[in-house]
Amino acid sequence: MSTLVTLEQSAGIATVTINRPDKLNALNVDVLSALHSAIEQIRAWEDARCVILTGAGKAFVAGADISEMQSLGEPAAREFSSKGHEVFAALEALPVPVIAAVNGFALGGGCELALACDFIHASAKAKFGQPEVKLGVIPGFGGTQRLARRVGIGRARELVYTGAMIDAEEALRIGLANAVHAPDELLAKVGEVAALIGAMGPFAISEAKRVLRDGEGLALPEANQLEVDGFARCFATADQKEGMAAFLEKRKAAFTGK
Ligand code: COA
Repeated sequence: MSTLVTLEQSAGIATVTINRPDKLNALNVDVLSALHSAIEQIRAWEDARCVILTGAGKAFVAGADISEMQSLGEPAAREFSSKGHEVFAALEALPVPVIAAVNGFALGGGCELALACDFIHASAKAKFGQPEVKLGVIPGFGGTQRLARRVGIGRARELVYTGAMIDAEEALRIGLANAVHAPDELLAKVGEVAALIGAMGPFAISEAKRVLRDGEGLALPEANQLEVDGFARCFATADQKEGMAAFLEKRKAAFTGK
């Protein structure tokens, strides 16, 4: 695999690191392709339980690569945006949760990448923003849509129209980040959450992820029907029998993912 994105797999946890620190991990086509390959490798890993996505060096990702975008015309820009969407959709479609460990700048495509993860934990040094309008463009990797769904349309409008950069505490306050950690503790803290998720019934986690994700854009009655179906599907698994038996027998459940 390309060194632009590294993948470590250990005890059910996949750690994906965007690794182009000299350019603050800016997303060019090669980085997006390497990220896509890492996602496909995780999809093929039967023992995967949770993914941590982070960046090497002082940035999470400082955006799509401006030097690569500068000369694009309209058709090529459409293609670039579509590629970003395709890769982020593949990330979102993974059956296991993905936690963004935002270690530094998460600007433009970096904020959008974090938003394509299930949720965000941030270093106290993290900075978030959608500065695209400063460059004469709009967000192109989901920022107008996922940001609004995460923090509400009013806050998303203000962030997108002003290009403002916000710090980790403000990201926490508006619900963009779930937690803020000391910089040198970020990966350990996120690892603890990943391990917690990894100890749950894997089928239940993937159903929860699917129903939460697919229900988001639906009207409540249809979304609730997704939940009914997902809830029922869990009862066709050995893990449901085991999880409930373990509770009643006052012991720790031994889930198998079956
Ligand atoms: N695309 C391409 N290159 C980028 C980049 C991006 N989005 N963000 C940073 N880089 C490059 C810089 O050009 C610089 O390269 P160089 O050393 O060859 O000159 C290198 O990464 C380091 O960045 P630098 O700007 O020197 O770091 P800084 O600490 O002074 O500033 C930022 C950090 C994040 C404030 C600044 O890099 C920045 O504003 N980046 C662009 C953010 C942005 O607009 N993103 C949205 C893109 S749609």
